[in-house]
Amino acid sequence: MIEKVKILLNEVEIFHPKSKEEVEIFRLKYLGKKGEMNELFKILKDIPSQNKKEFGQKINLLKKNVQLKIDLHKDSFIALKAKENIDTSRPIVLDSIGSKHPISMIKDQIIDIFNRIGFTISEGPEIEDDWHNFSALNLPIEHPARDMQDTFFIQTDPDILLRTHTSSVQVRHMENNSPPIRTLSPGRVYRNEAISARAHCIFHQVEGLFIDENVSFADLKQCLLYFAKEMFGEKTKIRLRPSYFPFTEPSAEVDVSCNICNSNGCNVCKNTGYLEILGCGMVDPNVLENCGINSKKYTGYAFGMGIERIAMLKYGVKDLRLFYENDQRFLQQFNQLS
Ligand code: DAH
Repeated sequence: MIEKVKILLNEVEIFHPKSKEEVEIFRLKYLGKKGEMNELFKILKDIPSQNKKEFGQKINLLKKNVQLKIDLHKDSFIALKAKENIDTSRPIVLDSIGSKHPISMIKDQIIDIFNRIGFTISEGPEIEDDWHNFSALNLPIEHPARDMQDTFFIQTDPDILLRTHTSSVQVRHMENNSPPIRTLSPGRVYRNEAISARAHCIFHQVEGLFIDENVSFADLKQCLLYFAKEMFGEKTKIRLRPSYFPFTEPSAEVDVSCNICNSNGCNVCKNTGYLEILGCGMVDPNVLENCGINSKKYTGYAFGMGIERIAMLKYGVKDLRLFYENDQRFLQQFNQLS
């Protein structure tokens, strides 16, 4: 009998199935109800006691090897089948394609809103010279208002800096174009600020500029009201507070009614019912003259806003840093909006 077990052990060892069916036949042959194993266990009872131990060990080994063979081969044909079914000529299905960053989304919305009333786009360099970032904008060297913006200067050349605002683009645009001018300048700006929930050393602005004959403060106000309603909803109100910017006179800061509490007061608007969104004013005649535009003939308005600020208000984002961390959990929330 022991010889039979040895033959079976050898048979199991050399078993190399070519299909799932062969594995099943093998399984039934050994482990089925009337299979070899049950037969052998039956025989074990009648084996003389001096041979029982050896016989028992051998049939246990056989059972173990049968099970190992089955485990080894049972899934390999499923995997093989899957491989056979792969159609390599099929186009790739991208189940998650990227989406627009919320800052780009807001930037595009702002551009779209102003495009509709005739503003075209102009851009300028992020590495600027003193003239375009400061001096031409009525901020001569030693002017105290330069401290309003903490500037990154290039160490070896104090004339070169990273632009602190996109107002530098209005200077370039006026130098190279004659009125009427109606332009919008989106772009990245840099300030030497400590990074916090409300400030970053890199952020984005949009600058607006309109120069023509007889442009008035009323035109500016109407333009900004139109923008606020388009961006935050038809019911939005704006409020202008007198302010100071060296490049505009008079100057104002503009607030929009808080769309979170309907101006009833909440912690976002600090119970004022309004949220500050931008700075603006009538272009100072000195700036027009610096850029070669006749200030006796032409007047104009300008405004500048932070894109992050608009995005934070529009989407209720409380921490500016989220925009730069590329955390998928944050960004994916904007997928369906883009
Ligand atoms: N450049 C200003 C800033 O970065 C924003 C600004 C204020 C732009 C008033 C303007 C303006 O054109 O008229 O803080």
